Amino acid sequence: MDQQRPQHALVVGQGSREHALVYSLTESKHFSKVYAAPGNPGIAGLAECIAYQNLPELISWCAKREPLLVIIGPEAPLVAGLADALRSQGHWVVGPSQAAAALEGSKTYAKEVMRRYNIPTARAQMARTPAQLQAWIEEETMWPHVMKQSGLAGGKGVVIVDSREAAWHVAESWTERPELFDEGILWEECLIGEEISVHVLTNGHEYAWLPLTRDYKRVNARSDAPNTGGMGAFGPVPGLDPETKDRINKEILDPVMQFLRDERMLYRGVLYVGLMLTASGPQVLEFNVRMGDPETEVIVPMVEQDWGALWMQLAQGRLPRIADHFGKAAVAVVLADERYPNPTTGGQPLHIPQNLDGLVFQGATRLVDGVLEGNGGRILTVVGVGPDVSNARRQAYQVMSQIDAPGTQYRQDIALEHRDS
Ligand code: AMP
Ligand code: GLY
Repeated sequence: MDQQRPQHALVVGQGSREHALVYSLTESKHFSKVYAAPGNPGIAGLAECIAYQNLPELISWCAKREPLLVIIGPEAPLVAGLADALRSQGHWVVGPSQAAAALEGSKTYAKEVMRRYNIPTARAQMARTPAQLQAWIEEETMWPHVMKQSGLAGGKGVVIVDSREAAWHVAESWTERPELFDEGILWEECLIGEEISVHVLTNGHEYAWLPLTRDYKRVNARSDAPNTGGMGAFGPVPGLDPETKDRINKEILDPVMQFLRDERMLYRGVLYVGLMLTASGPQVLEFNVRMGDPETEVIVPMVEQDWGALWMQLAQGRLPRIADHFGKAAVAVVLADERYPNPTTGGQPLHIPQNLDGLVFQGATRLVDGVLEGNGGRILTVVGVGPDVSNARRQAYQVMSQIDAPGTQYRQDIALEHRDS
């Protein structure tokens, strides 16, 4: 790396995704020092963790440093404009501008952009008042239907309702939170098909596909179980025929690039499109302006390139080249608090043996008097890596079986339906 390039890097965030991002940098050897803000006890084994109370404090900390490579993991600081603030200080940032982050920050705005650019997505109406929502529920004849909060909700603001009664129930509980209606509630057609997570690296003009992955959104295998941030993932997902990939490029990704150019929005980072492959073709469920969690935990070990170099090119506005064949498959299984996705403050002791034959990325963990314990919903993610998905799956569950954590849950069926091609 030449002298102009930063020697130090910072990863913003504190989940398993950020642990995997820090790992991607420490494996790279291009950076002599990696910081994480705020990080977690697992990340502290690889990077120096920086505590901060609010974004202005983090921005001041960065202002005192030589130019850093900064990777912003979660959506909230992107939507709050952290990438712009750090770029204006001369740092090299992986993450879109605040303007472009609205593609994730407001589902209402994203729908409007999709309508303008003719991007296929579920039909939706937007309610600004409980009365409007109730009227649509009353008139609806198609069940199931989808109810979505427009603003950020950590993957938990979406409910699929299979009857009018169920919809009434959700509407009633959301009516108690008027701020949800200020941002808008979407009443959306339910799409049927196979769901995939498309991640691309992009400089706002061109894009490069990362391996295709599948996320398991529901807390357990039951079809009526609540949605979560994600309980597991695997990749590569086989069988995306060239025609479908071509449609995703032409009907979805190219128009997003056109939108960014038309609006002159700066985008150097990852665009993650949640897609449903329906009988009539790929349709967008949501745009995310960062990497998925737990998708990151499988993508990082699958792409056997120098991630430090990839991130740096992206931060400089260059499009990295990504191989289109991956020699490795990976399976991630999330260990969550048994109360998740309901709120929880954790507290269960965690025993993670040393030298496990797989990767363990910590999420909601804390150290209390030197003892590691759970600190919230998604506690950690174990990742198995192998020549194919079956081997990776076996390794992931073997590692999970060696972790002792009372009061937790994990799905047994991650990548179970998968057949290696
Ligand atoms: P979102 O945050 O919009 O991606 O929604 C979270 C999850 O809810 C998605 O990953 C899907 O599993 C599901 N979902 C969202 N919108 C729809 C839809 N229109 N039809 C069917 N499932 C949906
Ligand atoms: N795995 C879903 C998300 O990161 O939004």
